[in-house]
Amino acid sequence: MDRYEQVIELAKRRGFLWNSFELYGGTAGFYDYGPLGSTLKRGIEQIWREIYVIQEGFMEIECPTIGIEEVFVASGHVGGFSDPLCECEQCKEAFRADHLIKHIMEEADGLSNEELDRIIEQNGVKCPECGGNIGNIYEFNLMFKTQIGPGSGRKGYLRPETAQGMFVDFLKLARYYRDKLPFGATQIGKSYRNEISPRQGVIRLREFTQAEAEIFIDPMVKSHPNIQRFENTSLNLYSDTAQEMGRSQIMTIREAVDKGIIAHEFLAYQVALVDHFLQRVGIAADKLRFRQHRKDEMAHYAIDCWDAEVLTDRFGWVEVVGIADRTDYDLSAHAKMSKTELSIYSEYEQPRMVEKFVIKPNMGKMGPMFKDKAKVVAEALKALPQEAFEKEEIKVSVDGDDLTVPRELVEFVQETFKVSGENIVPHVIEPSFGIDRILYSVLEHAYDEEIIPAKASEGNNEDETRIVLRFRKEVSPIKVAVLPLLTRKELIEPAKEIVARLKDKGLMVSYDDSGTIGRRYRRNDEIGTPYCITVDYDTLEDNTVTVRDRDNMQQVRVSIDAIDDVLHELLYKGKEFETVGKPL
Ligand code: ATP
Ligand code: GLY
Repeated sequence: MDRYEQVIELAKRRGFLWNSFELYGGTAGFYDYGPLGSTLKRGIEQIWREIYVIQEGFMEIECPTIGIEEVFVASGHVGGFSDPLCECEQCKEAFRADHLIKHIMEEADGLSNEELDRIIEQNGVKCPECGGNIGNIYEFNLMFKTQIGPGSGRKGYLRPETAQGMFVDFLKLARYYRDKLPFGATQIGKSYRNEISPRQGVIRLREFTQAEAEIFIDPMVKSHPNIQRFENTSLNLYSDTAQEMGRSQIMTIREAVDKGIIAHEFLAYQVALVDHFLQRVGIAADKLRFRQHRKDEMAHYAIDCWDAEVLTDRFGWVEVVGIADRTDYDLSAHAKMSKTELSIYSEYEQPRMVEKFVIKPNMGKMGPMFKDKAKVVAEALKALPQEAFEKEEIKVSVDGDDLTVPRELVEFVQETFKVSGENIVPHVIEPSFGIDRILYSVLEHAYDEEIIPAKASEGNNEDETRIVLRFRKEVSPIKVAVLPLLTRKELIEPAKEIVARLKDKGLMVSYDDSGTIGRRYRRNDEIGTPYCITVDYDTLEDNTVTVRDRDNMQQVRVSIDAIDDVLHELLYKGKEFETVGKPL
C-alpha cells in the first residue's frame, strides 16, 4: 500500500471521505464528506475566512452556482475552457491527451493538439486500459451545460470557477467599498468541471469546492501597504527560469521582488499569504513550493500565475492553489458583453494639468448653413475624435444623415485643464484555492505510522503500529474525547458532565465508552483527536482527570475545575503540554 492508499483507506473507514453514489456502483469524480471529513473541511474553510475575510477584509458574497450563457461567453469559458480529449479506438475509454504522455513529458499543458498527436504517434503510446490505438485528439469543453426553465428555456452552465460572480457584481462591490481601490471580495462554494477521466480521487473531482478572492487593484499601484509582514518570509520558488534550470530556489519575498522573480509586491504578498494559510492548516513546509506558469501554459485570462504545489506520495507535485494576475481581462470582457462601463473613478494624489484638444464650432457660421440643426451638428462635431479633423473634409453623421462641414466653420484650440482623477478599469489579483485538494494534502501530511515496541511487562509480546493523524490542533475535527475508564455509572456521570461543559464552550467533543482504554486511545489517535480526557476512580477522590496528548502519548493530571481553560490554552494558545498539570 502506498501512502495514498493508506490515507484513503483510513479516510473511508473512519468517515472522512466516501465514494459518492456507492449504493448504485458509484461514478468517478465525486466524493462525499463523512462526519469527520465535513468537520475537517469546515475547519479549514473557517481558517481561510479568518485570514481572507476577517484579517484582509475581503467580504464574502454568495452567487448562484448556475450561470447564464452570456457570463461564460464573456469570460472566455464557452470558447476556450477545454482539455484535449482522445479515445481508445478499441475500448472507447476516454483520456486527457496531455496526461497520456506524462511519462514522456511531465509538463505537456502548453502543447497544441497537433503536437500531442505527433508525440503519441512517434512514441507508440497505446491505451493504458487495453493496449488499443489512440484516436485523434479534439477539444472537449469542461463546463456542464444546463437549461434554465422549461421548453426552449435559457442556456446556462454550472460555474467552473466562483470568480465570475465577483466580476459580474463589480459595480455593486465598488459601491459597497465606497469606490476606493484596492478592495476584494471572496466566495467559498462549489465549482463544476466535467473532467475527462478523473482517476485521482479527491485531487480531480467533477464537483469541488473553491475558495477564491478577487482583489481589485489600481494597475498603477502595485506596492502593498503590509509587505513588511512577509518581507523576510522564505519561500521555495520555482520560477519559469528556474524550471529551465531544473531546480527551485529558496529566497525571501523581498529578494524575489527585488530580483523581479515575482513581478510586483501585491502579487508577492498574496503568494506569501497563501504560504501562511497552507502551513497554518497543516501542509508541511518542506513539501510546498510555488511554481510559476510558463507563458505557454497560462490560462486565457492571466498574464502571470504562481501555483502553490504540494508534494504527495502518489501524484508528485499537485497544484492546490493558483495565484493569478488576471489584469483587466474579465472586467473589460464583461463591460464589452454587457455594454456597461465597469470602471472606478480614481482620484490622483495631486491634481494634474492636462492639455486637451478642444473643438469650437463657429455658431455664427453654422446657423446660416445648418439652420435648426446647427446645435446638434455642433454637438456631433465636439464628439468626434481628433483624427476626424485631420482630413480635408469633416464628415459628421446627424440623425442618420451624413453631412460635410467646411473646415472654416470649426476652430481647434489646445486648452489646459486641471484634472483630479480618471476612470480606470481595475486589475485583479486572484488567489484560487481548491479546498478538496488541500484537505487531502492535509490528511496525507498528517498521516503517520509509529512503531510501539512490545512491552512484555504489560503483556504485549509484539510490536504495535500506532496510526496517528498529526493534524494541527486547530483543524482537528474532534478537539477532545472524554473517556470513562470503565462503563460504570459513577464514572459515566462525571464524564458526561465534562462533555456538556466543553460543548458549552463550543468545542467539538466526543464521548466514547466502548472497548478497552488502550483501544479508545488508538481510535482517537487515528482520527487526530489532540487530547483525551480519562475519568477514573481517582477522579471521584480528588476531582482530577487524566489528559493525554495525542502526539507523544504523555499524560498529566488536571483538576476538573480547570479543564476548559487548560484545553483552550493547549488547543489555541500553544501552551506546552507538560506545564498544564502533574505528569504521570
Ligand atoms: P489542473 O491543471 O490540475 O486541472 P487547474 O489549473 O485547471 O488545475 P485552476 O483552474 O487554477 O486549476 O483552479 C484553481 C484551483 O481549483 C486549483 O488550484 C485546484 O486546487 C482546484 N481545482 C481545479 N480543478 C479541480 C478539480 N477537478 N478537482 C478538485 N480541485 C480542482
Ligand atoms: N478562478 C481560477 C480558476 O478556477 O481557473
